[in-house]
Amino acid sequence: MHHQIDRILLTEEQINQRVLELADELSRDYEGKNPIFVGVLKGVVLFYADIVRRFAHHCQIDFLRVSSYEGTESTGHVKMIHGLSQDITGRHIVILEDIYDTGKSLSFIYDYLQSLGAASVEICTFLDKPERRDPGVTLKPKYVGYVIPNEFVVGYGLDYDEYFRNLPYIGILKPEVYEN
Ligand code: IMP
Ligand code: MG
Repeated sequence: MHHQIDRILLTEEQINQRVLELADELSRDYEGKNPIFVGVLKGVVLFYADIVRRFAHHCQIDFLRVSSYEGTESTGHVKMIHGLSQDITGRHIVILEDIYDTGKSLSFIYDYLQSLGAASVEICTFLDKPERRDPGVTLKPKYVGYVIPNEFVVGYGLDYDEYFRNLPYIGILKPEVYEN
């Protein structure tokens, strides 16, 4: 285990097992629909690669990037930094995201994709932290990997100040990491 990690919340095995289940569910639900998997950069990259390689049918991939976080606290301002590379009119969209926290980023992205004329938009998030949800957010992800308690987590794509994304598990940082 990394020396700055206090404890592991989800092991590689737990992650792999749940990702397989989600990919199977998506393969059942999207057979013949030629979906576009829209990944929210950068936190989603590990989850994204694991899901799409196990999706059993024709599909396309795309990415967008928004910014709302500095350190461990959300600023609440969502900005589009990088948009899609293709027309999504009439297409079935599955948004892939690392974590559903306050829900502000995904609400913004969901509305944006709807406004571009998608046939359907659903959300698949690896983690869900319901205790942190903003009271103004009503959107519910259809596919959720794991519901987790209100702790700041890193690894499997998730960062603290851009570090720890490469850890193969989901861990909780030692408090002194934030204090330095
Ligand atoms: P939301 O708009 O508050 O739901 O924020 C979602 C984004 O915040 C996620 O895509 C993550 O990049 C980041 N985030 C939220 N919680 C955590 C966490 O516990 N660790 C690392 N990043 C997080
Ligand atoms: Mg992020």
